[in-house]
Amino acid sequence: MSKGLFIVFEGVDGAGSSTQAQLLQNYFTQINQKSIISPEPSDGPIGKLLREFLGGRNDFNNQDLYDQQMAYLFAADRHYHLYNNFNGVYSLRSKNIHVISTRYYFSSLAYNGKNEKDYDFICLLNQKFPPPDLVIYLDIPVDLALERMCDRPLKEIYETKEKLIKVRERFQEIFANYPHKMLKIDARENPQKIHGEIINYLEKWNLSN
Ligand code: TMP
Repeated sequence: MSKGLFIVFEGVDGAGSSTQAQLLQNYFTQINQKSIISPEPSDGPIGKLLREFLGGRNDFNNQDLYDQQMAYLFAADRHYHLYNNFNGVYSLRSKNIHVISTRYYFSSLAYNGKNEKDYDFICLLNQKFPPPDLVIYLDIPVDLALERMCDRPLKEIYETKEKLIKVRERFQEIFANYPHKMLKIDARENPQKIHGEIINYLEKWNLSN
Protein backbone atom coordinates (compact mmCIF):
# COMPACT_ATOMS: atom_id res chain seq x y z
CA MET A 1 0.00 0.00 0.00
CA SER A 2 1.47 3.33 -0.99
CA LYS A 3 -0.82 5.78 0.80
CA GLY A 4 -2.61 5.88 4.12
CA LEU A 5 -6.31 5.05 4.08
CA PHE A 6 -9.06 7.31 5.35
CA ILE A 7 -11.50 5.10 7.25
CA VAL A 8 -14.61 6.52 8.93
CA PHE A 9 -16.86 5.03 11.61
CA GLU A 10 -20.45 6.25 11.78
CA GLY A 11 -23.43 5.45 13.94
CA VAL A 12 -25.65 6.89 16.67
CA ASP A 13 -24.03 7.83 19.97
CA GLY A 14 -23.36 4.61 21.89
CA ALA A 15 -22.92 2.45 18.76
CA GLY A 16 -19.34 1.60 19.74
CA SER A 17 -17.33 3.68 17.22
CA SER A 18 -14.60 4.65 19.68
CA THR A 19 -14.08 1.03 20.77
CA GLN A 20 -13.89 -0.15 17.16
CA ALA A 21 -11.57 2.70 16.19
CA GLN A 22 -9.21 1.65 18.98
CA LEU A 23 -9.33 -2.04 18.00
CA LEU A 24 -8.63 -1.10 14.40
CA GLN A 25 -5.67 1.00 15.41
CA ASN A 26 -4.31 -1.95 17.46
CA TYR A 27 -4.66 -4.13 14.38
CA PHE A 28 -2.69 -1.70 12.20
CA THR A 29 0.03 -1.60 14.86
CA GLN A 30 0.19 -5.41 14.87
CA ILE A 31 0.76 -5.48 11.12
CA ASN A 32 3.35 -2.70 11.36
CA GLN A 33 1.31 0.02 9.70
CA LYS A 34 0.95 3.46 11.20
CA SER A 35 -2.47 4.87 12.01
CA ILE A 36 -4.02 7.73 13.94
CA ILE A 37 -7.47 8.06 15.47
CA SER A 38 -8.73 11.46 14.48
CA PRO A 39 -12.33 12.16 15.53
CA GLU A 40 -14.81 14.81 14.47
CA PRO A 41 -15.35 17.26 16.08
CA SER A 42 -11.59 17.74 15.66
CA ASP A 43 -9.10 18.87 18.27
CA GLY A 44 -8.68 22.18 16.38
CA PRO A 45 -10.12 25.58 17.36
CA ILE A 46 -13.53 25.05 15.73
CA GLY A 47 -13.76 21.57 17.20
CA LYS A 48 -13.28 23.05 20.67
CA LEU A 49 -16.06 25.55 20.08
CA LEU A 50 -18.29 22.71 18.88
CA ARG A 51 -17.68 20.78 22.11
CA GLU A 52 -18.92 23.83 24.04
CA PHE A 53 -22.13 23.93 22.01
CA LEU A 54 -22.57 20.17 22.32
CA GLY A 55 -22.06 20.51 26.06
CA GLY A 56 -25.06 22.83 26.41
CA ARG A 57 -24.00 26.35 25.37
CA ASN A 58 -26.76 27.79 23.20
CA ASP A 59 -26.62 31.38 21.95
CA PHE A 60 -29.69 31.06 19.72
CA ASN A 61 -33.34 31.54 20.41
CA ASN A 62 -34.66 28.61 18.44
CA GLN A 63 -33.68 25.07 17.53
CA ASP A 64 -33.53 25.75 13.78
CA LEU A 65 -30.92 28.47 14.19
CA TYR A 66 -28.98 26.29 16.61
CA ASP A 67 -28.96 23.40 14.11
CA GLN A 68 -27.91 25.71 11.27
CA GLN A 69 -25.06 27.08 13.33
CA MET A 70 -23.96 23.53 14.16
CA ALA A 71 -24.05 22.56 10.47
CA TYR A 72 -21.87 25.56 9.54
CA LEU A 73 -19.42 24.89 12.36
CA PHE A 74 -19.15 21.16 11.64
CA ALA A 75 -18.46 21.93 7.95
CA ALA A 76 -15.77 24.47 8.89
CA ASP A 77 -14.26 22.03 11.37
CA ARG A 78 -14.32 19.30 8.70
CA HIS A 79 -12.39 21.52 6.32
CA TYR A 80 -9.77 22.04 9.03
CA HIS A 81 -9.77 18.32 9.86
CA LEU A 82 -9.07 17.37 6.24
CA TYR A 83 -6.68 20.05 5.12
CA ASN A 84 -4.68 21.54 8.01
CA ASN A 85 -1.03 20.73 7.51
CA PHE A 86 -0.28 19.90 11.12
CA ASN A 87 -2.47 16.83 11.65
CA GLY A 88 -4.96 17.01 8.77
CA VAL A 89 -6.19 13.84 7.08
CA TYR A 90 -4.44 14.59 3.78
CA SER A 91 -1.18 15.49 5.43
CA LEU A 92 -1.18 12.22 7.44
CA ARG A 93 -2.16 10.09 4.46
CA SER A 94 0.67 11.50 2.39
CA LYS A 95 3.01 10.29 5.15
CA ASN A 96 1.60 6.79 4.77
CA ILE A 97 -0.42 6.99 7.97
CA HIS A 98 -3.96 5.57 8.03
CA VAL A 99 -6.52 7.98 9.47
CA ILE A 100 -9.36 6.45 11.46
CA SER A 101 -12.08 9.01 12.02
CA THR A 102 -15.05 8.61 14.28
CA ARG A 103 -17.68 10.60 12.32
CA TYR A 104 -17.58 12.59 9.09
CA TYR A 105 -20.12 14.45 6.92
CA PHE A 106 -22.65 11.61 7.30
CA SER A 107 -23.11 12.74 10.91
CA SER A 108 -23.94 16.28 9.77
CA LEU A 109 -26.60 14.86 7.47
CA ALA A 110 -28.01 12.63 10.18
CA TYR A 111 -27.87 14.99 13.18
CA ASN A 112 -28.05 18.63 12.12
CA GLY A 113 -31.44 18.92 10.45
CA LYS A 114 -35.04 17.83 10.70
CA ASN A 115 -36.48 17.82 7.20
CA GLU A 116 -35.67 17.66 3.48
CA LYS A 117 -34.98 21.40 3.31
CA ASP A 118 -32.37 21.17 6.09
CA TYR A 119 -30.95 18.08 4.44
CA ASP A 120 -30.46 19.90 1.10
CA PHE A 121 -28.77 22.78 2.88
CA ILE A 122 -26.36 20.42 4.69
CA CYS A 123 -25.63 18.52 1.45
CA LEU A 124 -24.69 21.85 -0.13
CA LEU A 125 -22.39 22.78 2.75
CA ASN A 126 -20.62 19.43 2.51
CA GLN A 127 -20.63 18.87 -1.23
CA LYS A 128 -16.94 19.50 -1.77
CA PHE A 129 -15.72 17.03 0.83
CA PRO A 130 -14.45 13.79 -0.69
CA PRO A 131 -15.90 10.41 0.32
CA PRO A 132 -13.63 8.40 2.63
CA ASP A 133 -11.88 5.28 1.32
CA LEU A 134 -14.24 3.28 3.50
CA VAL A 135 -17.11 4.10 5.83
CA ILE A 136 -18.10 1.54 8.44
CA TYR A 137 -21.65 2.08 9.63
CA LEU A 138 -22.37 0.56 13.04
CA ASP A 139 -26.13 0.05 13.17
CA ILE A 140 -27.70 -0.40 16.60
CA PRO A 141 -31.20 -0.04 18.08
CA VAL A 142 -31.43 3.21 20.03
CA ASP A 143 -32.55 1.55 23.29
CA LEU A 144 -29.42 -0.56 23.37
CA ALA A 145 -27.20 2.41 22.47
CA LEU A 146 -28.71 4.42 25.35
CA GLU A 147 -28.26 1.50 27.73
CA ARG A 148 -24.57 1.36 26.80
CA MET A 149 -24.20 5.08 27.42
CA CYS A 150 -25.89 5.20 30.82
CA ASP A 151 -22.59 5.12 32.73
CA ARG A 152 -21.12 8.08 30.80
CA PRO A 153 -20.87 11.18 32.97
CA LEU A 154 -21.76 13.98 30.56
CA LYS A 155 -24.83 14.04 28.32
CA GLU A 156 -24.37 15.93 25.07
CA ILE A 157 -27.13 17.92 23.51
CA TYR A 158 -28.16 15.34 20.89
CA GLU A 159 -28.16 12.34 23.24
CA THR A 160 -31.92 11.96 23.71
CA LYS A 161 -33.99 8.97 22.71
CA GLU A 162 -36.31 10.99 20.47
CA LYS A 163 -33.40 12.59 18.60
CA LEU A 164 -31.39 9.38 18.22
CA ILE A 165 -34.35 7.47 16.76
CA LYS A 166 -34.51 10.07 13.97
CA VAL A 167 -30.73 10.04 13.57
CA ARG A 168 -30.72 6.27 13.13
CA GLU A 169 -33.47 6.46 10.50
CA ARG A 170 -31.45 9.07 8.66
CA PHE A 171 -28.28 6.98 8.77
CA GLN A 172 -30.20 3.99 7.43
CA GLU A 173 -31.51 6.07 4.51
CA ILE A 174 -28.09 7.55 3.76
CA PHE A 175 -26.33 4.20 3.71
CA ALA A 176 -29.06 2.41 1.79
CA ASN A 177 -28.22 4.64 -1.18
CA TYR A 178 -24.54 5.31 -0.65
CA PRO A 179 -22.56 4.75 -3.87
CA HIS A 180 -19.03 4.42 -2.45
CA LYS A 181 -17.23 1.83 -0.31
CA MET A 182 -19.26 1.03 2.78
CA LEU A 183 -19.54 -1.73 5.34
CA LYS A 184 -22.73 -1.97 7.39
CA ILE A 185 -22.42 -3.89 10.62
CA ASP A 186 -24.94 -5.11 13.16
CA ALA A 187 -23.50 -3.39 16.23
CA ARG A 188 -25.53 -5.48 18.70
CA GLU A 189 -22.76 -8.09 18.46
CA ASN A 190 -19.86 -8.10 20.91
CA PRO A 191 -16.92 -5.79 20.12
CA GLN A 192 -14.43 -8.55 19.22
CA LYS A 193 -16.84 -10.16 16.77
CA ILE A 194 -17.50 -6.81 15.11
CA HIS A 195 -13.78 -6.15 14.94
CA GLY A 196 -13.30 -9.56 13.30
CA GLU A 197 -15.84 -8.69 10.61
CA ILE A 198 -14.06 -5.41 9.90
CA ILE A 199 -10.68 -7.08 9.61
CA ASN A 200 -12.08 -9.77 7.29
CA TYR A 201 -13.42 -7.07 5.06
CA LEU A 202 -10.20 -5.04 5.09
CA GLU A 203 -8.06 -8.08 4.38
CA LYS A 204 -10.18 -9.07 1.41
CA TRP A 205 -10.44 -5.60 -0.01
CA ASN A 206 -7.66 -3.25 0.76
CA LEU A 207 -4.57 -5.12 1.77
CA SER A 208 -4.66 -7.09 -1.46
CA ASN A 209 -5.10 -3.89 -3.52
P1 TMP B 1 -19.06 11.96 19.53
O1 TMP B 1 -20.13 11.45 20.46
O2 TMP B 1 -18.66 11.01 18.47
O3 TMP B 1 -17.91 12.58 20.24
O4 TMP B 1 -19.74 13.16 18.69
C1 TMP B 1 -20.22 14.28 19.32
C2 TMP B 1 -21.60 14.65 18.86
O5 TMP B 1 -21.50 15.47 17.70
C3 TMP B 1 -22.55 13.53 18.51
O6 TMP B 1 -23.72 13.67 19.27
C4 TMP B 1 -22.89 13.76 17.07
C5 TMP B 1 -22.59 15.21 16.86
N1 TMP B 1 -22.21 15.58 15.49
C6 TMP B 1 -23.08 16.35 14.74
O7 TMP B 1 -24.14 16.72 15.21
N2 TMP B 1 -22.72 16.70 13.47
C7 TMP B 1 -21.52 16.34 12.91
O8 TMP B 1 -21.22 16.68 11.75
C8 TMP B 1 -20.61 15.54 13.72
C9 TMP B 1 -19.28 15.15 13.15
C10 TMP B 1 -21.01 15.19 14.99
